[in-house]
Amino acid sequence: MNAEDFRKYGRKMVDYIADYLENIREREVVHKVTPGYLKKRLPDEAPENPEDFEEVFKDIEKFIMPGVTHWHSPYFHGYFAAGNTYPSILGDMLSDAIGCIGFSWAASPACTELEVITTDWLGKMLALPEEFLHCGPGNGGGVIQSTASETTFLCLLAARNKIVDKIKKENPDIREKDILPRLVGYCTDQGNSSVHRSALLGAVKMHKLESDENLSLRGDTLKEAIERDKNDGLIPFFLCASLGTTGTCAFDNLEEIGPICEAEHIWMHIDAAYAGSAFVCPEYRHYMKGIQYAETFSVNPHKWMLINFDLSVMWIKNSSYLVDAFNVDPIYLRHTNEGKVPDYRHWQIPLGRRFRSLKLWFMLRSYGVSGVQKYIRKHCQLAKEFEKLILDDGRFEITSKTVMGLVCFRLKKGNKLTELLLSEILEDGRIYMIPALCRDVYFLRLAVVAERTTSEDIRFSFEVIKTCADKVLRSSGDFKEDEPVFVDIDLSRKKPTQPSKIKTHK
Ligand SMILES: Cc1ncc(COP(=O)(O)O)c(C=O)c1O
Repeated sequence: MNAEDFRKYGRKMVDYIADYLENIREREVVHKVTPGYLKKRLPDEAPENPEDFEEVFKDIEKFIMPGVTHWHSPYFHGYFAAGNTYPSILGDMLSDAIGCIGFSWAASPACTELEVITTDWLGKMLALPEEFLHCGPGNGGGVIQSTASETTFLCLLAARNKIVDKIKKENPDIREKDILPRLVGYCTDQGNSSVHRSALLGAVKMHKLESDENLSLRGDTLKEAIERDKNDGLIPFFLCASLGTTGTCAFDNLEEIGPICEAEHIWMHIDAAYAGSAFVCPEYRHYMKGIQYAETFSVNPHKWMLINFDLSVMWIKNSSYLVDAFNVDPIYLRHTNEGKVPDYRHWQIPLGRRFRSLKLWFMLRSYGVSGVQKYIRKHCQLAKEFEKLILDDGRFEITSKTVMGLVCFRLKKGNKLTELLLSEILEDGRIYMIPALCRDVYFLRLAVVAERTTSEDIRFSFEVIKTCADKVLRSSGDFKEDEPVFVDIDLSRKKPTQPSKIKTHK
């Protein structure tokens, strides 16, 4: 493809993207394909000779779109919000064009410096303590990672390194291999699965602690666990607190658990992947109380801050815990300005890194802080509107408090009928939702996901749910609620897991 063709197809692609997003309501929100659908339609080998891009373009609608789930449809209510805006897409386009591999400042100074600036902008927007900022008094700062999972894993490794160093300093005769099997981390029973995965990858124990009736991790629970584990010869070293859990958007009590972590030299990481974006609005900041005790904090702007996947931001108070822990510095990566600015390769797992701050910069300048606040508040308002519709109907109940853009609800008649309701909704196909299970209560989650969602869309989704509920309740007769079911959140699944194979979360 030459520059002329690139201009031609670039314009055509931009038009295609704008049409796709503006008319997304007209598409069926979920695909109807079965595994292997694409293999049946595409050749087994790459083309021997170049093809005309016009032909490639035609195949987008023919082959790709039938297998796409339209996450940015206002009728997609699964998981959590997912960012998607024009300035962010333009940022990715430019990043792809520049195509630098920004592992060090010298590798492309703008790539590093814009990241320093924009992560500071964002940190200030969220009212993070200044110790987390590059412009703050210490050694802290923000860095863009791919995902919250990667951040949790990185923090766990840094925490592991920190505690091992401390113990070795205090007991010069002790060997690392005798320390590692004794390390134990903590998270709430509501923590994201990525926390357990980090522990598996980091080869340490992770104890799930029971949350209270508001699904929040409390100080006494943590204190008891630490005492118990210390008596068993274990060494508590890491805690992943959640602000906005995946299941119900619950918040751990940082004011209680933070001081305990500090006293016990436990690294507190805060996973605020979804809910953290709401802290741009002062009225939500009370959920962050106690953040000053955290070593690290992470938010996914690619979830709820208008940025396309992938862009997750992690802030650390003392970056030397990363830089010193994972520093391998071959001569070919060194440069004369080392130490004056971050060399972000030390702050992450891969060596190479994209110029992702461009999309953050483009979005922040296009929306401004007020635009981001307006978007967050609109999503929260739409969730409240949906909650009211659900409560006014009388046949449903809210299963956990609606605090942001997520509503958790179910049929009052219980688990089985709620599960049938979901099957009916998915069969209907006009909207998409996923279930969750918490303490044997099976419920549905309606997340406000798309930027363009309106009150009318929410009323439409409610009408679909209502019609499906009518059908399920009509055919249920004198149905009796029986055993609890176990259903996990799984992106690949359109239908809930079959009931009856009972497994509880306790
Ligand atoms: C609270 C929370 N933490 C972590 C994650 C994982 O996010 P990521 O895909 O960025 O790893 C999610 C995903 O929804 C989440 O809700």
